[in-house]
Amino acid sequence: MYELIIYGGASQKKVLSIKLNQEELNQSLMSFLLEHKINIASSCNGEGICQKCIIWQDKKYYLSCQINLSEIFKNSFSQSFRVSYL
Ligand code: FES
Repeated sequence: MYELIIYGGASQKKVLSIKLNQEELNQSLMSFLLEHKINIASSCNGEGICQKCIIWQDKKYYLSCQINLSEIFKNSFSQSFRVSYL
């Protein structure tokens, strides 16, 4: 079992805390978040061009459409990210 936590940068609140199983790891972070009603900005439909889907982890950022959940949880069972505009 894995745990994903999303914080809003603007709201300074936890906007999602969810447990995932192994079968759910085979999709992009953006797809997963959209499925769970977390609005991720995008104007390129996940093509990796617009760079609007940025999420932060400490001082590193990722394009959520270009990173797979299996990569995120490769070294840890719990991960948290921040979406600046939420
Ligand atoms: S949705 Fe455009 S770069 Fe990710």
